[in-house]
Amino acid sequence: MNIQYLFLIDAIYIKNSPVIKNYKILEKISERRIHQQVQRIAKDISDEYQNKEPILIGVLNGVFVFFADLVREISIPLKIDFVRLASYGSKNVSSGDVLLTKDIELSIEGRPVIIVEDIVDTGLTLAYLVRHIKKRGPESVKICALINKLQRREKEMEIDYWGFEIKEGFIVGYGLDYNEEFRCLPYILSLEIED
Ligand code: PRP
Repeated sequence: MNIQYLFLIDAIYIKNSPVIKNYKILEKISERRIHQQVQRIAKDISDEYQNKEPILIGVLNGVFVFFADLVREISIPLKIDFVRLASYGSKNVSSGDVLLTKDIELSIEGRPVIIVEDIVDTGLTLAYLVRHIKKRGPESVKICALINKLQRREKEMEIDYWGFEIKEGFIVGYGLDYNEEFRCLPYILSLEIED
């Protein structure tokens, strides 16, 4: 299947969306490329956390697909937990306000923690979360994000494990939404949306 045909399928899918009218696909990240990066990150984590049993904390909702794929590729024992943080509301622009609506349930005191994000954009959500997690006294805190989006970064954050660096566009698919749509696309699209 050639790339133009794939773009046509994406175009039809998005055209049927009630929330997006005018858009351009800037970039597509295929399932194969995502899988390769997930495997690479999982190997790095498995190598670096031998005999440490890290606690992976996923940031809901967007991380749910990446998180599920990542933990199944990691070959060492680990524990999982989740937080829910809302920063965007219903628009595609970060408000800068971060609201913690679900906290972790495991004790992380003295334990190595890896925060897992689908995307780091302005960095405001992550900066808030790292401060919050560090108050619980973990042994260490590292950051894993599938997508490192640089264009709108406001808080410099060191990302220890990341899959893709993206400069522009609004990202949907593989867990990421636009007004709660497109989370279940198996690949990632970077869109320029004019609405
Ligand atoms: C997204 C994403 C990150 C955050 C990144 O979550 O999952 O948590 O935004 O943005 P930032 O770096 O500009 O702070 P969102 O609030 O859209 O919720 P969702 O995960 O439910 O889609």
